[in-house]
Amino acid sequence: MTAVPLRHLRSGKVRDLYDAGPDHLLLVASDRLSAYDVIMDDPVPDKGRVLTALSSFWFEQTASVFPNHHVSSDPADFPEGAAAGVGSDIVGRAMLVRRATVVPLECVVRGYLFGSAWNDYRVTGRVQGSILPAGLRQADRLPEPLFTPTTKADAGHDEPLTRDQAVALVGTERFESLEAAALALYGFGAAHAAERGIIIADTKFELGEIDGELAVVDEMLTPDSSRFWPADAWRPATAPPSYDKQFVRDWLDSTGWDRTPPPPRLPAEVLDGTRRRYVEAYEQLTGRSFEHWYHPR
Ligand SMILES: Nc1ncnc2c1ncn2[C@@H]1O[C@H](COP(=O)(O)OP(=O)(O)OP(=O)(O)O)[C@@H](O)[C@H]1O
Ligand SMILES: [Mg+2]
Repeated sequence: MTAVPLRHLRSGKVRDLYDAGPDHLLLVASDRLSAYDVIMDDPVPDKGRVLTALSSFWFEQTASVFPNHHVSSDPADFPEGAAAGVGSDIVGRAMLVRRATVVPLECVVRGYLFGSAWNDYRVTGRVQGSILPAGLRQADRLPEPLFTPTTKADAGHDEPLTRDQAVALVGTERFESLEAAALALYGFGAAHAAERGIIIADTKFELGEIDGELAVVDEMLTPDSSRFWPADAWRPATAPPSYDKQFVRDWLDSTGWDRTPPPPRLPAEVLDGTRRRYVEAYEQLTGRSFEHWYHPR
Protein backbone atom coordinates (compact mmCIF):
# COMPACT_ATOMS: atom_id res chain seq x y z
CA MET A 1 0.00 0.00 0.00
CA THR A 2 0.91 3.64 -0.49
CA ALA A 3 2.68 5.48 2.35
CA VAL A 4 0.72 8.69 2.97
CA PRO A 5 0.59 10.75 6.19
CA LEU A 6 -3.22 10.72 6.11
CA ARG A 7 -5.65 8.25 7.65
CA HIS A 8 -6.21 5.27 5.37
CA LEU A 9 -9.93 4.57 4.93
CA ARG A 10 -10.09 1.67 2.51
CA SER A 11 -8.62 0.16 -0.63
CA GLY A 12 -10.29 -1.09 -3.79
CA LYS A 13 -8.57 -3.34 -6.28
CA VAL A 14 -6.61 -0.43 -7.74
CA ARG A 15 -7.13 2.69 -5.56
CA ASP A 16 -6.35 3.57 -1.95
CA LEU A 17 -8.60 6.10 -0.21
CA TYR A 18 -7.38 8.53 2.44
CA ASP A 19 -9.20 10.92 4.75
CA ALA A 20 -8.73 14.51 3.53
CA GLY A 21 -11.21 16.20 5.84
CA PRO A 22 -14.96 15.91 6.35
CA ASP A 23 -15.90 16.56 2.72
CA HIS A 24 -12.86 15.32 0.82
CA LEU A 25 -10.82 12.22 0.04
CA LEU A 26 -7.38 11.71 -1.41
CA LEU A 27 -7.87 9.02 -4.07
CA VAL A 28 -4.55 7.38 -4.90
CA ALA A 29 -4.27 5.13 -7.96
CA SER A 30 -1.70 2.38 -7.44
CA ASP A 31 0.21 0.50 -10.14
CA ARG A 32 -1.82 -2.63 -9.34
CA LEU A 33 -3.41 -4.35 -12.30
CA SER A 34 -6.54 -6.42 -11.93
CA ALA A 35 -7.60 -8.77 -14.72
CA TYR A 36 -10.67 -10.98 -14.54
CA ASP A 37 -11.14 -9.39 -11.07
CA VAL A 38 -7.87 -10.88 -9.78
CA ILE A 39 -5.02 -8.56 -8.75
CA MET A 40 -1.73 -9.48 -10.39
CA ASP A 41 1.35 -9.89 -8.19
CA ASP A 42 3.41 -7.60 -10.43
CA PRO A 43 2.71 -3.85 -10.62
CA VAL A 44 2.75 -2.06 -13.99
CA PRO A 45 5.18 0.89 -13.77
CA ASP A 46 3.49 4.31 -14.24
CA LYS A 47 -0.01 2.80 -14.47
CA GLY A 48 -1.32 4.78 -11.47
CA ARG A 49 0.01 8.04 -12.92
CA VAL A 50 -1.54 7.34 -16.33
CA LEU A 51 -4.94 6.55 -14.79
CA THR A 52 -4.85 9.74 -12.71
CA ALA A 53 -3.60 11.89 -15.61
CA LEU A 54 -6.24 10.59 -18.00
CA SER A 55 -9.10 10.75 -15.49
CA SER A 56 -8.10 14.31 -14.58
CA PHE A 57 -8.16 15.26 -18.27
CA TRP A 58 -11.65 13.87 -18.74
CA PHE A 59 -12.97 15.34 -15.49
CA GLU A 60 -11.90 18.77 -16.74
CA GLN A 61 -13.19 18.24 -20.28
CA THR A 62 -16.60 16.90 -19.24
CA ALA A 63 -17.32 19.19 -16.29
CA SER A 64 -19.87 21.11 -18.38
CA VAL A 65 -21.51 17.86 -19.59
CA PHE A 66 -22.05 16.40 -16.10
CA PRO A 67 -20.68 17.22 -12.60
CA ASN A 68 -17.87 15.10 -11.12
CA HIS A 69 -15.96 14.71 -7.86
CA HIS A 70 -12.60 16.06 -9.04
CA VAL A 71 -11.10 18.97 -7.10
CA SER A 72 -7.40 18.93 -8.01
CA SER A 73 -4.54 16.64 -9.04
CA ASP A 74 -1.96 19.32 -8.30
CA PRO A 75 0.01 18.23 -5.20
CA ALA A 76 0.21 21.89 -4.12
CA ASP A 77 -3.54 21.71 -3.40
CA PHE A 78 -3.34 18.56 -1.24
CA PRO A 79 -3.72 18.65 2.54
CA GLU A 80 -0.60 19.76 4.42
CA GLY A 81 2.15 17.14 4.22
CA ALA A 82 0.26 14.71 1.97
CA ALA A 83 2.64 15.18 -0.95
CA ALA A 84 5.81 15.79 1.06
CA GLY A 85 8.48 13.51 2.51
CA VAL A 86 7.42 9.92 2.82
CA GLY A 87 4.26 10.59 0.82
CA SER A 88 5.99 12.08 -2.19
CA ASP A 89 5.58 8.95 -4.27
CA ILE A 90 1.87 9.73 -4.55
CA VAL A 91 2.64 12.77 -6.72
CA GLY A 92 0.95 12.21 -10.07
CA ARG A 93 -1.10 9.28 -8.76
CA ALA A 94 -3.31 11.12 -6.32
CA MET A 95 -6.30 13.36 -6.75
CA LEU A 96 -8.23 15.37 -4.21
CA VAL A 97 -11.94 14.62 -4.65
CA ARG A 98 -15.23 15.39 -2.94
CA ARG A 99 -16.68 12.59 -0.84
CA ALA A 100 -19.71 10.92 -2.35
CA THR A 101 -22.26 8.28 -1.48
CA VAL A 102 -21.62 5.85 -4.30
CA VAL A 103 -24.60 4.52 -6.28
CA PRO A 104 -24.67 0.69 -6.16
CA LEU A 105 -24.60 0.27 -9.97
CA GLU A 106 -21.77 0.20 -12.48
CA CYS A 107 -22.95 2.45 -15.31
CA VAL A 108 -21.68 0.62 -18.39
CA VAL A 109 -22.24 2.09 -21.87
CA ARG A 110 -21.53 0.16 -25.06
CA GLY A 111 -21.12 1.70 -28.50
CA TYR A 112 -19.88 -1.55 -30.06
CA LEU A 113 -20.74 -5.21 -29.70
CA PHE A 114 -17.90 -6.96 -27.89
CA GLY A 115 -16.93 -9.06 -24.89
CA SER A 116 -19.75 -10.26 -22.67
CA ALA A 117 -22.34 -8.31 -24.74
CA TRP A 118 -21.28 -10.15 -27.89
CA ASN A 119 -21.54 -13.48 -26.08
CA ASP A 120 -25.00 -12.56 -24.80
CA TYR A 121 -26.17 -11.42 -28.26
CA ARG A 122 -24.86 -14.54 -30.01
CA VAL A 123 -26.93 -16.75 -27.75
CA THR A 124 -30.07 -14.65 -27.17
CA GLY A 125 -30.16 -11.93 -29.86
CA ARG A 126 -30.31 -9.48 -26.97
CA VAL A 127 -27.93 -7.66 -24.68
CA GLN A 128 -29.13 -7.64 -21.08
CA GLY A 129 -32.71 -7.82 -22.25
CA SER A 130 -32.47 -5.17 -25.02
CA ILE A 131 -33.39 -6.60 -28.41
CA LEU A 132 -30.86 -5.76 -31.12
CA PRO A 133 -31.14 -6.09 -34.92
CA ALA A 134 -30.30 -9.53 -36.32
CA GLY A 135 -27.05 -10.16 -38.19
CA LEU A 136 -24.68 -8.01 -36.14
CA ARG A 137 -21.07 -9.19 -36.09
CA GLN A 138 -18.52 -9.17 -33.28
CA ALA A 139 -17.12 -5.62 -32.84
CA ASP A 140 -19.91 -4.09 -34.96
CA ARG A 141 -21.01 -0.59 -34.10
CA LEU A 142 -24.40 -0.63 -32.36
CA PRO A 143 -27.28 1.35 -33.94
CA GLU A 144 -27.31 3.48 -30.75
CA PRO A 145 -25.06 3.40 -27.68
CA LEU A 146 -26.62 1.10 -25.10
CA PHE A 147 -26.75 1.53 -21.30
CA THR A 148 -25.96 -1.90 -19.80
CA PRO A 149 -25.53 -1.50 -16.03
CA THR A 150 -24.15 -4.20 -13.75
CA THR A 151 -24.14 -4.82 -10.03
CA LYS A 152 -21.24 -3.44 -8.01
CA ALA A 153 -19.95 -6.59 -6.33
CA ASP A 154 -17.90 -6.17 -3.14
CA ALA A 155 -16.07 -9.34 -4.06
CA GLY A 156 -16.05 -11.35 -7.26
CA HIS A 157 -17.66 -10.44 -10.55
CA ASP A 158 -20.17 -7.71 -11.38
CA GLU A 159 -23.41 -9.23 -12.72
CA PRO A 160 -25.21 -7.79 -15.77
CA LEU A 161 -28.67 -6.35 -15.05
CA THR A 162 -31.72 -5.94 -17.22
CA ARG A 163 -33.47 -2.60 -17.11
CA ASP A 164 -36.12 -4.00 -14.74
CA GLN A 165 -33.51 -5.43 -12.39
CA ALA A 166 -31.60 -2.13 -12.30
CA VAL A 167 -34.82 -0.19 -11.70
CA ALA A 168 -35.62 -2.54 -8.81
CA LEU A 169 -32.24 -1.65 -7.25
CA VAL A 170 -32.28 2.15 -7.58
CA GLY A 171 -35.81 3.20 -8.63
CA THR A 172 -37.07 4.46 -11.98
CA GLU A 173 -36.17 8.12 -11.56
CA ARG A 174 -32.61 7.41 -10.42
CA PHE A 175 -32.19 4.80 -13.17
CA GLU A 176 -33.20 7.31 -15.82
CA SER A 177 -30.82 9.95 -14.45
CA LEU A 178 -27.94 7.48 -14.44
CA GLU A 179 -28.72 6.33 -17.97
CA ALA A 180 -28.94 9.88 -19.31
CA ALA A 181 -25.68 10.89 -17.60
CA ALA A 182 -23.78 7.81 -18.76
CA LEU A 183 -24.98 8.16 -22.36
CA ALA A 184 -24.15 11.89 -22.46
CA LEU A 185 -20.66 11.31 -21.07
CA TYR A 186 -20.01 8.40 -23.40
CA GLY A 187 -21.21 10.48 -26.36
CA PHE A 188 -18.85 13.31 -25.44
CA GLY A 189 -15.88 11.00 -24.82
CA ALA A 190 -16.45 8.88 -27.93
CA ALA A 191 -16.70 11.97 -30.17
CA HIS A 192 -13.50 13.43 -28.72
CA ALA A 193 -11.68 10.10 -29.02
CA ALA A 194 -12.88 9.62 -32.63
CA GLU A 195 -11.22 12.92 -33.60
CA ARG A 196 -8.00 11.49 -32.20
CA GLY A 197 -8.26 8.16 -34.00
CA ILE A 198 -9.52 6.06 -31.08
CA ILE A 199 -12.77 4.14 -30.78
CA ILE A 200 -14.20 3.83 -27.27
CA ALA A 201 -15.96 0.50 -27.72
CA ASP A 202 -17.41 0.50 -24.22
CA THR A 203 -16.81 2.06 -20.84
CA LYS A 204 -17.95 2.06 -17.24
CA PHE A 205 -18.80 5.07 -15.06
CA GLU A 206 -19.38 5.16 -11.33
CA LEU A 207 -21.72 7.81 -10.01
CA GLY A 208 -22.33 9.04 -6.51
CA GLU A 209 -24.33 11.63 -4.66
CA ILE A 210 -22.61 14.81 -3.46
CA ASP A 211 -24.80 17.34 -1.58
CA GLY A 212 -27.89 15.60 -2.98
CA GLU A 213 -26.73 15.82 -6.62
CA LEU A 214 -25.38 13.06 -8.85
CA ALA A 215 -21.73 13.34 -9.88
CA VAL A 216 -19.20 11.07 -11.56
CA VAL A 217 -16.72 9.56 -9.08
CA ASP A 218 -13.75 7.18 -9.17
CA GLU A 219 -12.02 7.17 -12.58
CA MET A 220 -13.21 8.16 -16.03
CA LEU A 221 -12.64 6.87 -19.58
CA THR A 222 -9.35 5.16 -18.77
CA PRO A 223 -7.85 1.94 -20.18
CA ASP A 224 -8.95 0.21 -16.93
CA SER A 225 -12.58 1.26 -17.27
CA SER A 226 -12.90 1.19 -21.07
CA ARG A 227 -12.13 -0.70 -24.27
CA PHE A 228 -10.06 1.51 -26.58
CA TRP A 229 -9.40 0.47 -30.17
CA PRO A 230 -7.23 2.22 -32.74
CA ALA A 231 -9.83 3.36 -35.31
CA ASP A 232 -7.66 2.41 -38.29
CA ALA A 233 -7.39 -1.21 -37.10
CA TRP A 234 -11.12 -1.73 -36.48
CA ARG A 235 -12.67 -4.44 -38.69
CA PRO A 236 -16.09 -5.83 -37.75
CA ALA A 237 -16.14 -9.60 -37.26
CA THR A 238 -12.62 -9.58 -35.83
CA ALA A 239 -11.15 -8.72 -32.43
CA PRO A 240 -9.37 -5.34 -32.81
CA PRO A 241 -6.01 -4.83 -31.09
CA SER A 242 -6.53 -2.59 -28.08
CA TYR A 243 -4.84 -0.06 -25.82
CA ASP A 244 -6.32 -1.55 -22.70
CA LYS A 245 -6.13 -4.61 -20.52
CA GLN A 246 -7.07 -6.89 -23.39
CA PHE A 247 -3.34 -7.27 -24.09
CA VAL A 248 -2.78 -8.72 -20.60
CA ARG A 249 -5.97 -10.76 -20.74
CA ASP A 250 -4.87 -12.32 -24.04
CA TRP A 251 -1.49 -13.21 -22.56
CA LEU A 252 -3.13 -14.65 -19.43
CA ASP A 253 -5.49 -16.73 -21.58
CA SER A 254 -2.52 -18.05 -23.55
CA THR A 255 -1.08 -19.50 -20.32
CA GLY A 256 -4.20 -21.58 -19.68
CA TRP A 257 -4.74 -19.83 -16.31
CA ASP A 258 -8.20 -20.64 -14.85
CA ARG A 259 -8.87 -17.01 -13.72
CA THR A 260 -8.73 -17.86 -10.02
CA PRO A 261 -5.93 -16.84 -7.62
CA PRO A 262 -3.03 -17.19 -7.63
CA PRO A 263 -2.41 -15.48 -10.99
CA PRO A 264 0.69 -16.24 -13.07
CA ARG A 265 3.69 -13.89 -12.71
CA LEU A 266 3.76 -11.37 -15.57
CA PRO A 267 6.95 -11.47 -17.65
CA ALA A 268 8.89 -8.23 -18.28
CA GLU A 269 7.70 -7.94 -21.88
CA VAL A 270 4.06 -8.16 -20.84
CA LEU A 271 4.58 -5.48 -18.16
CA ASP A 272 6.47 -3.26 -20.64
CA GLY A 273 3.87 -3.79 -23.36
CA THR A 274 1.09 -2.91 -20.93
CA ARG A 275 2.87 0.23 -19.71
CA ARG A 276 3.47 1.31 -23.30
CA ARG A 277 -0.19 0.88 -24.26
CA TYR A 278 -1.41 2.82 -21.24
CA VAL A 279 0.95 5.73 -21.96
CA GLU A 280 0.03 5.66 -25.67
CA ALA A 281 -3.68 5.80 -24.86
CA TYR A 282 -3.08 8.86 -22.67
CA GLU A 283 -0.97 10.68 -25.24
CA GLN A 284 -3.29 9.87 -28.16
CA LEU A 285 -6.45 10.87 -26.35
CA THR A 286 -5.15 14.06 -24.76
CA GLY A 287 -2.56 15.19 -27.33
CA ARG A 288 -0.32 15.81 -24.31
CA SER A 289 3.08 14.33 -23.50
CA PHE A 290 3.05 12.01 -20.48
CA GLU A 291 6.48 13.47 -19.59
CA HIS A 292 4.72 16.64 -18.52
CA TRP A 293 2.39 15.03 -16.01
CA TYR A 294 3.21 15.43 -12.29
CA HIS A 295 5.91 13.07 -11.12
CA PRO A 296 7.70 12.43 -7.84
CA ARG A 297 10.99 14.29 -7.50
N1 LIG B 1 -15.66 10.54 -4.48
C1 LIG B 1 -15.77 9.34 -3.92
N2 LIG B 1 -16.41 9.18 -2.75
C2 LIG B 1 -16.52 7.95 -2.17
N3 LIG B 1 -16.02 6.82 -2.70
C3 LIG B 1 -15.37 6.90 -3.87
C4 LIG B 1 -15.21 8.16 -4.55
N4 LIG B 1 -14.53 7.94 -5.69
C5 LIG B 1 -14.27 6.62 -5.73
N5 LIG B 1 -14.77 5.99 -4.66
C6 LIG B 1 -14.69 4.56 -4.33
O1 LIG B 1 -13.34 4.25 -4.10
C7 LIG B 1 -13.02 2.96 -4.55
C8 LIG B 1 -11.91 3.09 -5.56
O2 LIG B 1 -11.17 1.93 -5.59
P1 LIG B 1 -10.98 1.07 -6.89
O3 LIG B 1 -11.21 1.89 -8.09
O4 LIG B 1 -9.70 0.35 -6.73
O5 LIG B 1 -12.20 0.08 -6.62
P2 LIG B 1 -12.72 -1.09 -7.54
O6 LIG B 1 -11.81 -2.22 -7.53
O7 LIG B 1 -13.14 -0.49 -8.83
O8 LIG B 1 -14.01 -1.48 -6.71
P3 LIG B 1 -14.07 -2.05 -5.24
O9 LIG B 1 -13.98 -0.87 -4.31
O10 LIG B 1 -15.43 -2.67 -5.22
O11 LIG B 1 -12.94 -3.03 -5.07
C9 LIG B 1 -14.29 2.40 -5.19
O12 LIG B 1 -14.96 1.60 -4.26
C10 LIG B 1 -15.11 3.66 -5.48
O13 LIG B 1 -16.49 3.41 -5.45
MG1 LIG C 1 -12.81 1.58 -9.53
